[in-house]
Amino acid sequence: MLFFREFFVEEKMLSMDTLTLLHCRRSSKKYGTLAPNAEQLNAILQAGLRAPDHGHLKPYHFVVIEQSAMTKFAEYLTACVAEFNLGEEGLKKAQKISQNAPLVIGVVAKIEPNLAKVPEWEQIVTAGCATYGMQLAANSLGFETRWITNKWVNGTALRQAFGCREHDQIIALVFVGSPQEGEQITLARHPEDISSFISYLR
Ligand SMILES: Cc1cc2nc3c(=O)[nH]c(=O)nc-3n(C[C@H](O)[C@H](O)[C@H](O)COP(=O)(O)O)c2cc1C
Repeated sequence: MLFFREFFVEEKMLSMDTLTLLHCRRSSKKYGTLAPNAEQLNAILQAGLRAPDHGHLKPYHFVVIEQSAMTKFAEYLTACVAEFNLGEEGLKKAQKISQNAPLVIGVVAKIEPNLAKVPEWEQIVTAGCATYGMQLAANSLGFETRWITNKWVNGTALRQAFGCREHDQIIALVFVGSPQEGEQITLARHPEDISSFISYLR
């Protein structure tokens, strides 16, 4: 655990102990100003592409939203507020989302409908695994993350901007950014108690 606590985002490509990360990963709502650099971003996206994948379909597409595109991103979210009548509160949330983290990765599940061997739900699960893989990779590099969806992922303008076809689904907007100034990456203090989630087939 000490290893984690001593981990800093500036130390680029150092990675965390795998099991500790898997056992203690947490999301964060607050971010510092640093986004992953090009090398780190590449490493994060590569982790997405190793998701378990029935039929080797790679049924996903990642849309990287860097600081320079946040104004555009805010416009798409604002269009969503109008589309779904989300009102004043929705408008505030749209602003907050576009100013929350220095990087957002949008994940589109690229769905091939009516495939005999790989139903739609399996393709969505694969895209979900890709998303989680990217979160873990970002965490291992010392970045905070959070996966959100809400109504935003169904907004027509955002779907268009992300290149969605009729059956595609935006499944995630993943915030990525350094911990806040002076903070360490957010981690659970202890691994979860597994007992009430497990049974054995006998
Ligand atoms: C498919 C999916 C959609 C989610 N959508 C939202 C969301 O729209 N807003 C939100 O606050 N959390 C959302 N979450 C949950 C957060 O990403 C996070 O997992 C949750 O707040 C629990 O925190 P933890 O990851 O630290 O346990 C979503 C998670 C998943 C897997």
